[in-house]
Amino acid sequence: MPVRRILVTHALPYANGALHLGHMVESVQTDIWVRFQRLRGNDCLFVCAEDCHGTPIMIRAQQDGITPEQLIATSAADHQRDYAGFAIGFDHFHSTHSEENRHYSYELYHALARRGAIARRTIEQAYDEQAGMFLPDRFVRGTCPRCGTPDQYGDSCESCGATYSPADLKDAVSTLTGTKPVLRSSEHLFFQLGQFEQDLREWLANNNLQPAVRAKLDEWFEAGLKDWDISRDAPYFGFEIPDAPGKYFYVWFDAPIGYIGSFAALAAKRGLDFDAYWKAGATTELHHFIGKDISYFHTLFWPAVLHGAGYRRPTGVHVHGFLTVDGQKMSKSRGTFITAQRYLELLPADPLRYYFAAKLGNGLDDIDLNLGDFTARVNSDVVGKLVNIASRCAPFIERAGGELADALPDPALYQQFTAAADGIAALFENRDYAGAIREIMQLADRANQYVDQQKPWVLAKDPAKLDEARSVATEAINLFRVLMTWLAPVLPGIAAKAEGWLGAGTLSHWDGTGEPLLGIAIGKYPQLATRLDPVVVKQLVATPPAPAAAPSAAAKVAAKPAQDKPVEKSVIGIDDFAKLDLRAAKVLAAARVEGSDKLLQLTLDLGAEQRNVFSGIAASYAPEQLVGRFVVMIANLAPRKMRFGVSEGMVLCASGPKEGGEGVFLLDVDAGVQPGMKIS
Ligand code: MSP
Ligand code: ZN
Repeated sequence: MPVRRILVTHALPYANGALHLGHMVESVQTDIWVRFQRLRGNDCLFVCAEDCHGTPIMIRAQQDGITPEQLIATSAADHQRDYAGFAIGFDHFHSTHSEENRHYSYELYHALARRGAIARRTIEQAYDEQAGMFLPDRFVRGTCPRCGTPDQYGDSCESCGATYSPADLKDAVSTLTGTKPVLRSSEHLFFQLGQFEQDLREWLANNNLQPAVRAKLDEWFEAGLKDWDISRDAPYFGFEIPDAPGKYFYVWFDAPIGYIGSFAALAAKRGLDFDAYWKAGATTELHHFIGKDISYFHTLFWPAVLHGAGYRRPTGVHVHGFLTVDGQKMSKSRGTFITAQRYLELLPADPLRYYFAAKLGNGLDDIDLNLGDFTARVNSDVVGKLVNIASRCAPFIERAGGELADALPDPALYQQFTAAADGIAALFENRDYAGAIREIMQLADRANQYVDQQKPWVLAKDPAKLDEARSVATEAINLFRVLMTWLAPVLPGIAAKAEGWLGAGTLSHWDGTGEPLLGIAIGKYPQLATRLDPVVVKQLVATPPAPAAAPSAAAKVAAKPAQDKPVEKSVIGIDDFAKLDLRAAKVLAAARVEGSDKLLQLTLDLGAEQRNVFSGIAASYAPEQLVGRFVVMIANLAPRKMRFGVSEGMVLCASGPKEGGEGVFLLDVDAGVQPGMKIS
């Protein structure tokens, strides 16, 4: 078989939120496929990037008193730490806020404009006069025009499922300022998707999309392909459109182009042939792994944009379902919103990788993480079946001087295992990991049966049969090696340890199992895996203790709405409110912060102690106005590391539309307060 040249991506994570186990379903699914391809000897590249643009990221950074670039840098570092923790083997991780991405965004845009695929039209949109900006649908809330449920998003109702535009909402308010949005018109640029219907249909016909994805596409075709608005008005964090000053590319225009940008950066590093991967007629394969919520962008717009710009189209778009925890959508209030970081504080990656693999078919079904089932499954399959084969046979090799026997006592059994290789490869290739795991575990049962029948521990009691015990162990360890090779893409941590034991290269080629390992010395058996402790697993959903150190910006914003995605409403009860320790504090010193025009550095007297607090009020208060006056502060806020130092609390203000801008008013405390006095 000739070596396939394959480029793989998974969706680019937004730069304003922590990665959670839902993200990890996708990363693990993709990484298994990539590792499988490499194991098969294919040339498989895997790239990703931080998705940086759009209104939520801009607003988030403003609220934190930092630049979007700073927010992105923190998120990117956090995300890459988590990916590394889950052993996600990217060849390159880039950013959509990069020169490469700007270059290709412009190139594709110009190519589309040249062929007449971009139209300009004036449209009306919700505008927040106080904030001075147009509002994305998610930033408008009001009463559903169909069923009357209050407090619904500007694009759809969570109660009755109606979809509409913000203008249809009753008593709409901007979530930024609480003011009523007005309708304002502005010129927008549209990608004329309809021009590409024939091309899309042809692409579909030659593509092996999942039936559910195909059905969705048929629905969209049926409804008629609509023009796609690819522009947004300033202020917007993104790339300004070259021939439309004051207009920016909508984040979803340049985000998938981020796949190209990331590849281009990798290509520059490694001297790869860009055109062979991206230009029309490319003979390499291109595979995208994504969640079901973003298939519209990847199966309609993206192939059309690529085709229209003279680029190749994807070979595969592979869509997965959503992760639920104990049968329900992950939720902060139920404590089931598990971040990748929290998981890794408690447990190694391999068990969860295994569990996801065991549940991932090639359909769009949701995947449930049931904690009891997770523990039972990992302990029974990975520890009780797979690792058990190796751990109970290793001593009989060690006793025989650490060398495997020269021949297999039951070559037919070994053959029975290797004969399953092609079928299992086909299951991995087709992303039916659940099917592959099922077959592999059946064979693991078979291997354990063999050991149970041969009883090497009984043989080893008789000095004359030590050799026989070693033969049986050699057979079993070879069976283990076959299974472990197939599972290496799923369990990279355990596979690395096993390879350290059996010898370098013994598990790194799919076809390497054709020949058993015989007559060679192997290492001392290392513990390959330990049982999951249900008490530890339970802690995944227990409320984590308040962070001792400063949480990262990304962790802090985990609760914030992701871009263009449904979010959960957070309502707090009186008990939550009571947790705030509000205190009167006296400003002892105030100074401007070099490098920030928003922040003041305050030294606050709380009576018993002094605190250093950064506050985004520089536009409204001069430092000298503040010294000596009392402010209200949150005294029990976890310290937060900022670029300029650690902030040990927060000062309360009433604020106008623009955070950190003018119109910020410190709360006045009645005369007679003392530093540290409780405010309620
Ligand atoms: N930034 C966009 C993708 C741009 S790709 C050019 C985005 N980011 S995201 O962070 O919201 O989601 C990233 C991926 O994670 C998406 O494929 C999404 O479907 C997936 N998931 C997010 N939550 C998930 C679950 N709970 N379960 C499984 N996958 C989920 O969308
Ligand atoms: Zn409704």
